[in-house]
Amino acid sequence: MTDEQFKDGIRYAEDNFMNNRAPHLHVDKKLIKENFDLTGKKILDFGSGMGGMSLWYATNWDCEVHGIDIDAHHVTIANEVKKKHNINNVTFEVRNVLDTPLTEKYDYIFLNDVAEHIAYPILEPILQQLADSVSETGRVFVTYPPWKSPYASHVQHVTGIPWCQFLPDAILLPMIERNNLPLVGEEESTLLDSYHGLNHLTHKKLIPLVRKAGLEVDFRKSHCILNKLGPLKNTNIRMWPLDYLITKEFLLLKRGNAKSEGKRGGLRVAASF
Ligand SMILES: C[S@@+](CC[C@H](N)C(=O)[O-])C[C@H]1O[C@@H](n2cnc3c(N)ncnc32)[C@H](O)[C@@H]1O
Repeated sequence: MTDEQFKDGIRYAEDNFMNNRAPHLHVDKKLIKENFDLTGKKILDFGSGMGGMSLWYATNWDCEVHGIDIDAHHVTIANEVKKKHNINNVTFEVRNVLDTPLTEKYDYIFLNDVAEHIAYPILEPILQQLADSVSETGRVFVTYPPWKSPYASHVQHVTGIPWCQFLPDAILLPMIERNNLPLVGEEESTLLDSYHGLNHLTHKKLIPLVRKAGLEVDFRKSHCILNKLGPLKNTNIRMWPLDYLITKEFLLLKRGNAKSEGKRGGLRVAASF
């Protein structure tokens, strides 16, 4: 990682941490703030990346956060931002849970924009492990842009074309190559690597893996561009072809044998969720 990439990484992580309008996280933050009370909770931020969300949890609630990520460069940046802002209730670790399985139990496990980056054969044992690591009253919260989303390609900012994932490879790949930016990651160090790393995730593909892991859907919100219109604010709009306007899926999962701690494991699950 070059000095410039390191500095860019710090800027990106601080924006995700401190800016509530940060582009890919503002809906996540709003939903979490309105519906979760993380006070006193033990949290796993799985795929914590450069740490923005972990640091946000740690500073918005009196909670204990464990961020893990497979990418050493991302974790270096997360630790730097933690140190710079003197935040002590979060730890970051480079960890591949398939080599070093989790041993602790967590009240909440978050996967913000992570599941779509993990190949299916690996996603299945990872979900199994997360199911074993969430407490009986706990919840797993998964957010991701479904493959039909205008932004699911993760490269529309360089191609200038929403839904460009549906272009033939012969057209799209040269477009990405022409604008192939270096990324800070050790695992995925260019935009093209990142595009090839996507698993084309959809709700239909994710649910069998969720069930196999012994988890159940407690709540689902499909955030759609049309939710910006007042009367449609809280509506899940999933019918074809409007499902192409869903920008993000939010899935709250519980263990099949989950006990409830008051209402929905202590969650204030509001109508807006
Ligand atoms: C798009 S980033 C999201 C980071 C962070 N959750 C956020 O919202 O800013 C996806 C992250 O998932 C991590 N990741 C991918 N596969 C992983 C795995 N098997 N175990 C842990 N982390 C993984 C990547 O290294 C990357 O940091």
